[in-house]
Amino acid sequence: MIFKYVDASAWIYYYYTVSLFSVTSSNIVNYTIYNYNQNLNSTVDFVDSELRPSLNLSRESESDVIEQFLEQVELYKKNKGNCTPGTHHNLGKGVKTQYGLYRFKNQALVAVNRANFLTRIWKKAEPGVLESEYLFYTQVRSIVESDPDIFAAGNCYDAREFKAEYFLYCPYAHRMDNGEINVKDLSLEYHYLGNSSEWFISARMISSNLSNFNFTVGTEQWRINDNTSGSYEYDSTITVTYEHGHWSLPYFDCGGGNIWMMTYTVPFFGYSNGTFKFK
Ligand SMILES: *[C@@H]1O[C@H](CO)[C@@H](O)[C@H](O)[C@H]1NC(C)=O
Ligand SMILES: *[C@@H]1O[C@H](CO)[C@@H](O)[C@H](O)[C@H]1NC(C)=O
Ligand SMILES: *[C@@H]1O[C@H](CO)[C@@H](O)[C@H](O)[C@H]1NC(C)=O
Ligand SMILES: *[C@@H]1O[C@H](CO)[C@@H](O)[C@H](O)[C@H]1NC(C)=O
Ligand SMILES: *[C@@H]1O[C@H](CO)[C@@H](O)[C@H](O)[C@H]1NC(C)=O
Ligand SMILES: *[C@@H]1O[C@H](CO)[C@@H](O)[C@H](O)[C@H]1NC(C)=O
Repeated sequence: MIFKYVDASAWIYYYYTVSLFSVTSSNIVNYTIYNYNQNLNSTVDFVDSELRPSLNLSRESESDVIEQFLEQVELYKKNKGNCTPGTHHNLGKGVKTQYGLYRFKNQALVAVNRANFLTRIWKKAEPGVLESEYLFYTQVRSIVESDPDIFAAGNCYDAREFKAEYFLYCPYAHRMDNGEINVKDLSLEYHYLGNSSEWFISARMISSNLSNFNFTVGTEQWRINDNTSGSYEYDSTITVTYEHGHWSLPYFDCGGGNIWMMTYTVPFFGYSNGTFKFK
């Protein structure tokens, strides 16, 4: 019964751009934000998120957490009409580590897969591919279409990273009240470079140190003509894993979906001058 209830209430929401911390603990951590166009050379305080869920599924602790979760869910559902717009009604960290991460890991892996795909696209695809806004709209829509537990999916770029004419760009697919999925450019209404977008700041920060990531080692053989395969060419690309992603606390999306959500964000990279960098 509990699981069914949560299935119906807690959707997931993703961004690819964000994420990771190598830090664990519930302490407030001072992060120094490096450069990046905006006036973000300041120190930002926020509660960092746990990199790895410590799943304590012992019967006693689990029922505590679920009880607390259901109380909160009931409370907000009841007061839906007069909640304060925003995303600040969140559940405790316990719910996230004990339940949310475990429940939605498969959905998060879709984002990880997509982030690695995007890194490769931005490394080598022909310019025509990278200029196709249709392609980027389609790839977020297909994620939401693939799984009813996913409420929305976005692919947000840093300033001027998508194309020079656009300051920000973030194709974003989301479910609407009538059940249809709409895709839009979220950056036109949500300026996510601001210091309240913990997800974006943290992704950028972790991505600024490439030593946090591993690289694939492999080869590829390009086709030469109608009947011949080319020789082996070395291929190595930076990769992200589930652990590089960042989970938000479950929150009640008042005024938005009016449902409980968690978001998972994971960075992807651009490539220039032989180096990968946060995109
Ligand atoms: C799991 O939770 C139970 C009950 O709160 C506690 O007694 C136990 O020590 C916890 N186990 C771990 C590994 O944290
Ligand atoms: C950014 O943070 C500063 C102080 O840390 C605050 O005064 C300012 O209002 C914040 N800006 C935004 C857009 O949240
Ligand atoms: C980058 O990350 C590596 C490994 O995670 C760490 O050893 C190194 O100190 C970091 N470098 C900087 C400049 O933070
Ligand atoms: C990188 O690869 C090494 C060796 O396989 C592994 O121990 C390490 O955890 C990996 N690091 C990340 C960030 O995936
Ligand atoms: C491969 O195709 C070329 C022309 O495209 C042809 O000359 C050659 O005979 C073909 N080789 C084989 C093994 O079919
Ligand atoms: C790439 O490297 C060259 C030479 O090292 C440098 O002049 C150029 O500014 C670099 N371009 C970018 C985009 O960093």
